[in-house]
Amino acid sequence: MIRLAKSVDATTIAQLSRSQIENGLPWRWKPGRVQHYIRDTGSTVIVSESENRLSGFAITSFAETSAHISLLAVDPVFRRQGIATLLIRWLTQSCRVAGIGCIRLEVRATNIDAIDCYLSLGFRKVGVRKGYYDGREDAQLMALVLINPDIEAQRPT
Ligand SMILES: CC(C)(COP(=O)(O)OP(=O)(O)OC[C@H]1O[C@@H](n2cnc3c(N)ncnc32)[C@H](O)[C@@H]1OP(=O)(O)O)[C@@H](O)C(=O)NCCC(=O)NCCS
Repeated sequence: MIRLAKSVDATTIAQLSRSQIENGLPWRWKPGRVQHYIRDTGSTVIVSESENRLSGFAITSFAETSAHISLLAVDPVFRRQGIATLLIRWLTQSCRVAGIGCIRLEVRATNIDAIDCYLSLGFRKVGVRKGYYDGREDAQLMALVLINPDIEAQRPT
């Protein structure tokens, strides 16, 4: 089940970020920062629940025509069960309804598993940002195009 995050989820999300995403880097996504994104009207924090506990999450910010996934992780206990797929599907459906044509993200260039996961969900590699992670590691930039403006323009009204 996917639902919007509540304030009480902030600590679990921050801990998952620390252990599963920010390992080896300074801990930037502490509970207070996650809390800010839960309340921010320009962002959405969604969580998955499995066996009555939080099993994954995604933090996404929205601009007029694109969205940006800042963080996404699934608890190791619940991986390869389609949870990241459900989180991304929830986001893509919301973006389509809102007329948002593209979802972007950065992922650690060494994180081959996550890159493979995003590729399997239709994302493409669109560039590399050198030293993006604290000057220590490059980011692989990825994007999922949801709306082809040319095709949209040809649709009958
Ligand atoms: C990457 C991550 C989010 C995937 O979550 P998940 O719920 O296990 O992913 P799914 O079950 O939806 O997998 C969907 C598809 O992605 C690919 N995939 C997922 N994990 C993979 C892995 N470890 N290696 C290779 N391909 C993988 C597969 O094609 C998979 O389909 P399949 O299981 O039918 O083969 C999870 O491993 C994770 O949280 N990693 C640590 C945090 C992280 O790297 N976050 C991303 C950067 S912010």
